[in-house]
Amino acid sequence: MSRQPPVAFSATDTIERKRDGHELTEPEIHAFIKGFTSGDVPEYQAAAFAMAVYFKGMTPEETATLTRAMCDSGTRFEHPTGSPTKVDKHSTGGIGDKTSPILAPLLACHQVWVPMVSGRGLGITGGTLDKLESIPGLSTNISLTDAYAQLAECAVVMMGQTPEICPADRKLYALRDVTATVPSQPLIVASILSKKLAESLDQLVLDVKFGSGAFMKTRAEAEQLAEALTTTASAAGLPTKAILSPMQEPLGHAVGNALEIIEVIETLKGNGPTDLINLTLDLAAALGIDRAAAQTTLSDGTALTRFEKMVHMQGGSIEAFTSRAPAPVIREIPAPTSGTLTALDAETIGRAAVALGAGRQKSDDQINMAVGFDQIAKVGTSPTLLARVHATSEAAANSAAQKLLAAAIIQ
Ligand code: URA
Repeated sequence: MSRQPPVAFSATDTIERKRDGHELTEPEIHAFIKGFTSGDVPEYQAAAFAMAVYFKGMTPEETATLTRAMCDSGTRFEHPTGSPTKVDKHSTGGIGDKTSPILAPLLACHQVWVPMVSGRGLGITGGTLDKLESIPGLSTNISLTDAYAQLAECAVVMMGQTPEICPADRKLYALRDVTATVPSQPLIVASILSKKLAESLDQLVLDVKFGSGAFMKTRAEAEQLAEALTTTASAAGLPTKAILSPMQEPLGHAVGNALEIIEVIETLKGNGPTDLINLTLDLAAALGIDRAAAQTTLSDGTALTRFEKMVHMQGGSIEAFTSRAPAPVIREIPAPTSGTLTALDAETIGRAAVALGAGRQKSDDQINMAVGFDQIAKVGTSPTLLARVHATSEAAANSAAQKLLAAAIIQ
């Protein structure tokens, strides 16, 4: 017998109705998110709700309502009249994906504003906020007032969900990270777009990843997610493009928070890996920036100067980052045999990085900024070194080395 939505809101009833495959009503989705944001709906009920959505999915209407409810859990940016075009990019998550801290300052050099609201590590994927916070002193917990001031002076701000901006996503994101409820299309759509709608953008580009290190394992799943994201965004009045990008091997040569920021800085100095540079320029071009002009901004130091200004305005110190302590153990992992590297499984490397301490296994875990992998070999090359592992102990380095070797196919 089909159960009708209750007249008075009950979180238990909402979870039960979703568990049993019913379509939730607009008022009950809004009431659930409002209750969760205020603390009236406890985390264990929100975790059960996320798992019910994971298994039963949501209709496009429910997804759009959830997106709005999460966006409306806070306030939206109100940009001053006459301010430049506001643009942003968001990725669905990958291994070694450090595109945002390169692209955001680069875009800001091209007469647009970039009010970027990002997330922390999610599942096996690293998060922009965690990576940025490996820079000593840098804060991503920025008030709207400070964000407005920074946009006016620097044209770019990189911040997290705050009590003002998307507080519902701030809480649900952290819960999904540790309850195996990340790879759910409606939850991904609502999480990403609630943040992007709150930014009050003119244009958005999405990097929808597919492959072992992405939440969408196949291109077909990624196409579906891209369709859901662009349709929901456009219906909410935000012109959005999506590009699909492969995530079979890590992006660039580094995985792990501080190790990725080193690669970001090298890329901004014009020494980046080809795959990372190409993806960054593709995303800039999708936002209407001339590709050749973007390439110049990246290679001539202009984007680096903007990055340094942004870091400084957010309290960070590049000097302190440069002199930070490395991980206690740094070990080279040679290729076990000669030949061409034909695969380096991104998911295995992502899991190994989380096990090293680069990601969270429980919501209150402290992540270790120094650990991970660098000098990771690229598929298609014939490497003598597979990668270096940065670990807190010999035992952790051994375990990571075993995983790395298992991820590689050399023929
Ligand atoms: N990025 C987000 O902000 N949310 C998700 O769910 C996945 C990627």
